[in-house]
Amino acid sequence: MSGHSDEIAIKLLGHLRNSPDKSFAIPDLARKFSTRVKVINEALKGLVLWGYKFDFDNTSRARFVSAPDSIFPHEINHYLKTNFFGRNVISHFSVPSTNSLAFRLADEGATEGTLVIADKQTEGRGRLGRRWQSPTKLGLWMSLILRPSQPPAELPALSIVTATALAETISDKLKLDARIKWPNDCLIDGRKVAGILTELSGELDKARFVVVGAGINVNQMSRDFAPYIRKRATSLRIEAGAVVNRIEFLADFLLRFENLYLKFKKKGLKPLLPGIKKRSSLLGRQVRLKRGSKTILAKAIDISAEGALLVRRRKEVLRVTAGEVTVIEDET
Ligand code: BTN
Repeated sequence: MSGHSDEIAIKLLGHLRNSPDKSFAIPDLARKFSTRVKVINEALKGLVLWGYKFDFDNTSRARFVSAPDSIFPHEINHYLKTNFFGRNVISHFSVPSTNSLAFRLADEGATEGTLVIADKQTEGRGRLGRRWQSPTKLGLWMSLILRPSQPPAELPALSIVTATALAETISDKLKLDARIKWPNDCLIDGRKVAGILTELSGELDKARFVVVGAGINVNQMSRDFAPYIRKRATSLRIEAGAVVNRIEFLADFLLRFENLYLKFKKKGLKPLLPGIKKRSSLLGRQVRLKRGSKTILAKAIDISAEGALLVRRRKEVLRVTAGEVTVIEDET
């Protein structure tokens, strides 16, 4: 479809899907949209090609049946309840990395809340230079452009804000006990369901923008994970025992994340700490910290208002601001 007919198709789709129980006469639709029957039929054909399903009664009536599992901007928009997160969507079938693309777009001036999303990443990036597996349509591979006003030193905390929004969405929507593994993973039953990669551009004293990337394993089965991560990774589908609608989940997550982000922007991490601590997978547990070439064994005791992990080793309390942390009992 072309730009103009796309517009009619999207309006028509919205109209039909608002009354899923109702079958509409095509001539009535043509009148409603001040166009010809032929245009409506073309638009419906286009929508079918996009994967939408309709019941056609004698070809003279149409009723909305279902939407495809797709990250079209209009599909995301249908579920979205946010003010600015995801209101501008850059959606692709395949990109090397949504974080890299978001970084470039932010550099060129993309607005705060712009969502960059892809069905597949060919060079998905994880923390510490690792790769992030991003198989086609099985997860949400996405990045958000943020323009916070805090000094750069406070911004790594955005990872934990994102992880909290994710854990809350999973818990509320799917009734699963999702946990935050400081500073930027989301776990269910000790297995990783999502990872976050926060990247910043700016000077030492002023951030220009932040890109928060989230990789959420949604509909993988165990066999979809590479053998070397199979034991440590999970998906919402595996845990919930049913396929999860990616777009509905995304919209819920964005709404929660926007709320937490606005609080963070106004008052920092402090008002969010109770929620973060409640869902932490580390607090109260013996952990192993890797800092460069050093390994430290200690007990995780708290998270500070700056987002640092506080650990106790013998009588000493250490502030951990970066690095790899593992719970000792989980190591096998
Ligand atoms: C980690 O756990 O190491 C972080 C993984 C972050 C992966 C996401 S997927 C979308 C975005 N684009 C990337 O290249 N990485 C992040």
